[in-house]
Amino acid sequence: MRKTVVAGNWKMNKDLNESITLVSEIKNLLDENNNVKAIVCPPFTSLETVSALLKDTNIGLGAQNMCSEDSGAFTGAISASMIKSVGCQYVILGHSERRTIFGETDELINSKIKKALENSLIPIFCIGETLEERESGEMKSVIERQVKKGLNEISADQLSQMIVAYEPVWAIGTGKTASPEQAQEVHAFIRGLLAEMYSSEFAQNVTIQYGGSVKPDNAKELLGQPDIDGALVGGACLKAESFAGIVKPA
Ligand code: PGA
Repeated sequence: MRKTVVAGNWKMNKDLNESITLVSEIKNLLDENNNVKAIVCPPFTSLETVSALLKDTNIGLGAQNMCSEDSGAFTGAISASMIKSVGCQYVILGHSERRTIFGETDELINSKIKKALENSLIPIFCIGETLEERESGEMKSVIERQVKKGLNEISADQLSQMIVAYEPVWAIGTGKTASPEQAQEVHAFIRGLLAEMYSSEFAQNVTIQYGGSVKPDNAKELLGQPDIDGALVGGACLKAESFAGIVKPA
């Protein structure tokens, strides 16, 4: 049985005081018995404080990125053990903003995934095509490359500890959501790839989130699709009511 997981990616928003306010409001709105796993991913500077505020709740904590190296002369970088030490259980890897703005390659993302798993962190592995790639008919080959290179040398046992997030780049922060049918088509394609790479029985158990302009008013339909197992939410997670409004119907 696949788990439904809704994660909020705060991106470069919310200083420490704002983070305290937001997470306190989210805690008040989310029902402890909710059978959906909710995760918040604040900026690095708020992780430790948010972690303390989430103690005794079942809301998960994730970082938005990490370095593929353990330690050393990597100015400005944050390691897996550092985010782990402040209470993270999850880490978003391969987000399209990291790929496009910061030039992260499939190979780098693969090494980060390995490092996260080594440190018992659950990677939320993001993939997705640009509008240009979709319109030129390259969508499936782009997704296939991202999946195969990102999961290079990752065992079935390791993948079973991960979450995959399909986020079409053209839907991120644009207000343009993929239609439930468009999203379902790609999710089924990704699950098919995982079935080829591992086994179909195994692929059935992998949680695949959808991301890209998910809001309370479109979440239910998107998450109602057979291969969509949750959401990775950007803009709408910055307000407690809208984040909770996605988690609850999920
Ligand atoms: P969005 O961002 O919900 O603002 O489109 C999603 C994401 O980048 O994860």
